[in-house]
Amino acid sequence: MPDLDLAIRGGTVVTASDTIRCDIGIRNGRIALLAEAVTGAARTIDASGLLVMPGGIDSHVHLDQDSGPDVTMADGFESGSRSAAAGGNTTIIPFAMQIKGRSLRACVTEYHAKAEGQSLIDYGFHLIVSDPTPTVLNQELPALFADGCTSFKVFMTYDDLVLTDRQLLEVFSVARREQALVMVHAEGYDSIKFLADRLEQAGKTAPYYHGVSRPEIVEREAAHRAISHAELLDVPIMIVHVSGREAMEQIRWARQRGLKVYAETCPQYITLTADDMKGLNMDMSGAKYVCSPPPRDTDSQKAIWEGLKQGVFQTFSSDHCPFFYDSPRGKLSPKGRTSFRWVPNGIPGVETRMPILWSEGVAKGRISANEFVALTSTNHAKMYGLYPQKGTIAVGADADIVLWDANRKETLRQEILHHGSDYTPWEGFEVTGYPVMTIARGRTVVEEGKVRGSPGDGRFLKRDKSPYALPLGA
Ligand code: URP
Ligand code: ZN
Ligand code: ZN
Ligand code: ZN
Repeated sequence: MPDLDLAIRGGTVVTASDTIRCDIGIRNGRIALLAEAVTGAARTIDASGLLVMPGGIDSHVHLDQDSGPDVTMADGFESGSRSAAAGGNTTIIPFAMQIKGRSLRACVTEYHAKAEGQSLIDYGFHLIVSDPTPTVLNQELPALFADGCTSFKVFMTYDDLVLTDRQLLEVFSVARREQALVMVHAEGYDSIKFLADRLEQAGKTAPYYHGVSRPEIVEREAAHRAISHAELLDVPIMIVHVSGREAMEQIRWARQRGLKVYAETCPQYITLTADDMKGLNMDMSGAKYVCSPPPRDTDSQKAIWEGLKQGVFQTFSSDHCPFFYDSPRGKLSPKGRTSFRWVPNGIPGVETRMPILWSEGVAKGRISANEFVALTSTNHAKMYGLYPQKGTIAVGADADIVLWDANRKETLRQEILHHGSDYTPWEGFEVTGYPVMTIARGRTVVEEGKVRGSPGDGRFLKRDKSPYALPLGA
């Protein structure tokens, strides 16, 4: 067998389409050979009894993102990518965020500097457009798309990020022209503000009221508005972090109209509920679960499962947005203690995403192993212009592979995780199915929870245009 660096032998290879008993031969970081038996490699890994799957791609993570003067994010590229790899991921796509009033290009340049030499696994950038000036729309965005940042997120809420309807239409039309994929955070700014003001006036300031201030109706309303803008201009959109039935119904409605409306959901919406934000007797510990959209109820969890089984959702991402809990620069900032309004939104989850979906989905018989691969890896690669270099096990693809023990039982606990946060929202959560080894471009990054890779091993990925971003009338 010619010059193989690595052979993975005896495992069961699972892709989005097939489950096959075969060996894998790897050369120069890529898959060179799939065969019944691969021998003669410089190094051999025995994968018997294990599943061999494409490494996870988490297309929704936040790392080292500017979070205002009072708050620091708990992960940069080093700890964030380490945690991702320990959870079975080989690619992450965080967000390079424009700060209002500044050049998007300058913000992206700074973000490259934050990532440079830090990541253990490959990474791309989505953009966040918060200030769509004529320069951003006509010069910076097209240039950044050409540099391989071929998707961007827009927000319909948050003081520092929200766009008006007019601005949404402006950026959507640039996306259509340039074949960039728009990701939409769909929650209605004014309704949330109105409800939050009323709650605060009534003295209802505990973290639990975060959820009360953003009910499903505000998510549904924004989803409908985003879909309507998308239809008006004939531009595909991806609605991210969908939390329950109301927004899902809008997505189904859009699909029935023939529109290209895609959707993402996350572990929090199948495992957590609004009650988690109550903490202990409405104390601040509920802040550990504050994220947006907020977790709903068990009926919503059921609805999300229907969506995962029926193809409403293309991707299952973590929305990893890590803050410290017990820190004045985290969830418990002096301001955060005065009202839910000031508790930073987001939870850590890049390391627990795949075990949670496997355990709740595959181990409980709700989805197949192949659907798991599609939802955690393949569809992310296809949607965001990385396929087939990433997201599958095929000759010529990058050797990004996770060895998975489908039977391994683990109790998720802060002490076994590799992220920067000082807590996990899933403390004590029991899973069946866990990554045993993560291999990125043929190198072992994490083995049995031990980190073997180094910062700087991961490279920036210049992504292709998304084939999913082609308008209907193209
Ligand atoms: O609460 C969340 N999800 N924070 C992260 C930012 C976002 O909207 O995705
Ligand atoms: Zn985001
Ligand atoms: Zn968001
Ligand atoms: Zn997010």
